Amino acid sequence: MRIGSEEHKQLLCDWFMNSHLLYEPEELPWPQLDGTTLDRLRGIPFWDEALRTESRAGQMLDMYAATVKDPTIREAIALQGREEARHGRVIQYLIDRYNVNVPDKEAPEIPADLEPEFIRFGYGECFDSFFAFGLFEIARQSKLMPEALFTIFDPILDEEARHMTFFINWIAYKQIQEGKGWLRPFNSLWQYSGALQRRLDNLTGITKKKKKESSSQKGFTATGVKSFTLNLTLEKFLEVCIAENAKRMSKYDDRLLRPEFLPVLSGVAYQTLKLLPKKKPSPVADAA
Ligand SMILES: [Fe+2]
Ligand SMILES: [Fe+2]
Repeated sequence: MRIGSEEHKQLLCDWFMNSHLLYEPEELPWPQLDGTTLDRLRGIPFWDEALRTESRAGQMLDMYAATVKDPTIREAIALQGREEARHGRVIQYLIDRYNVNVPDKEAPEIPADLEPEFIRFGYGECFDSFFAFGLFEIARQSKLMPEALFTIFDPILDEEARHMTFFINWIAYKQIQEGKGWLRPFNSLWQYSGALQRRLDNLTGITKKKKKESSSQKGFTATGVKSFTLNLTLEKFLEVCIAENAKRMSKYDDRLLRPEFLPVLSGVAYQTLKLLPKKKPSPVADAA
């Protein structure tokens, strides 16, 4: 099968439609949580951001799908839109069930030019999910939350891996069909750089905002996260991200492309870090 061919498109869309899971948030096996676990869950600082991102993605993909001429691709993008909207409903259900306090913020606007927005979103997902897979596994191993919650969110992360695979194949098909196949590596580099820049801008904004906040407002970030990142080095973090990404991506048809940029870059960074001399653990840490 040739990448960019009609056969490629058909395989991609058939695989995507056939691997869709049927579930609704209220049917998931939500566990009872004790007071300490509830406090940890309520202290996680990203629920409102995750809720708005997923709900907006659902709406944006639905709007973009309506503009796509090819009926097979349109159907697949509309399905991804429904899956993103369902991610938003899962988070909303968790917020309601466990009384998580989230600030009331306006949903971010959706620009009128939908295709560039879908492309920005697709590269952004490839960027975020690669690291989210690693963080999820590290959090799971920390056992600070019950396994039942990880069991609920594991298939949702697999859905993100499906979205990344769909996107990377769709963009390759589109560029080849438009005669711009040779531009693919440059375009990817440009798009990933943009995704990184937007995330750095966000982070700078968050850091400035945090400095203004009172030091008494320490939630899970300052306590819970610290407790499971104590022994986490960048080398270990990259190792887990690379392994988790490979594990999730291995579940799909071998003939489909996978996102390669971050796994390759992280692999180089990981191999370099491995060669660096290691800091000896301090005697105090050994005694603790
Ligand atoms: Fe999502
Ligand atoms: Fe997604």
